Amino acid sequence: MPVRMAVPKELVPGERRVALDPTMAERFTKLGVEILIERGAGSSAFFTDEAYQSCRLIGDTKTLYSDADVVLKVQAPTLEEVSLLKDGSTLLAILLPHINIEMVKLLRDKKITSFAMELIPRISRAQSMDILSSQAAISGYKVALLAANLASGFFPMMTTAAGTIRPSKVLVIGAGVAGLQAISTCRRLGAIVEAYDVRPAARQEIESLGAKMIDTGVNAASEGGYARELTVEEKQKQADMLAKHIASANAVITTASIPGRMAPRIITTKMVEGMKRGAVIVDLAAESGGNCELTKPGENIEHNGVIIAGPINIPSSFPVPASEMYAKNLFNFLSPMVENGKLNLDWENEVIIKSALTRDGKIVHETTNNLV
Ligand code: NAI
Repeated sequence: MPVRMAVPKELVPGERRVALDPTMAERFTKLGVEILIERGAGSSAFFTDEAYQSCRLIGDTKTLYSDADVVLKVQAPTLEEVSLLKDGSTLLAILLPHINIEMVKLLRDKKITSFAMELIPRISRAQSMDILSSQAAISGYKVALLAANLASGFFPMMTTAAGTIRPSKVLVIGAGVAGLQAISTCRRLGAIVEAYDVRPAARQEIESLGAKMIDTGVNAASEGGYARELTVEEKQKQADMLAKHIASANAVITTASIPGRMAPRIITTKMVEGMKRGAVIVDLAAESGGNCELTKPGENIEHNGVIIAGPINIPSSFPVPASEMYAKNLFNFLSPMVENGKLNLDWENEVIIKSALTRDGKIVHETTNNLV
């Protein structure tokens, strides 16, 4: 019997992505996998039921889950969804175990083998499976568009019969995957871009995109190419150096984050009050606490003539490429372990071990196990 992989409709309000697009569904089918799609699962990403030609369409969630050996999702399942999963089946999704403890316990008790896609290690070999990178690239592009849209002036220089308009000055704080994409998008829109990151390694990437790196003298590079949290002295040094750049910017895009922690607070209310009226801050870290003290997740607010936007679930606003890239990541993760339509998980593989959350009735991710 071939392995049966099921794709349900996402339940989180506003989530428009689907875990498998028709192209990747077909590629799984070619490997001998049977794909079950819940009716309407792809509709908010503009994939019709008919487009999933190689798949079996299932009308209700209960039947879908009861028939599935593997469930592919974007968002973490609700407790009700987990209760519908077949005992001993496999689940792949963005599980965020630290905020979904009850879900983790239920996955453990139902002996589900679960993989949290966000835990895939950031090693070269796993880049093609890296959902954090694929979705962050989308977010970086979108925050640049949002900043351009909310700004009170043009991003590019404009020479018209009525005079020449100077280009906007954009500051991008945090030059990881999203930040670099934001820089290149703002550059393409014609803005003058400055950028800042606590990892000195970011300088070369920033400069290769035609932006200028701000040097605060703080170096917080840590393991795996990530940043560590700053000391109190470093935070002050950073704030002193950044304040004048923030004050002169027409748009500030913040993307700074530290894995597993709340986002660092970089822009204070006082700094916002030092900004030009008509300037804009777009805070990509809104969902994890915000890089700006005034950010409200999911809202655009105005303070002293400055707009502060806190967009949430940004990848979902581009549901087609976001679903396609997510599905490709899932395919690259699973397909090497599919042979003649059967899935044999390779428990010797570092990528499999590190992204596993629960297995055989145990929580195998150490940090989560300690939390529970
Ligand atoms: P992230 O989303 O955790 O953080 C975004 C950025 O914020 C990072 O560049 C970080 O250095 C910066 N940051 C943190 N605290 C800050 C502060 N106080 N002020 C200014 N900036 C601050 O990181 P992301 O984008 O997921 O990846 C960061 C790095 O990880 C990449 O640039 C790369 O070196 C590495 N990476 C490696 C991959 C691989 O080999 N598979 C894939 C993706 C990333």
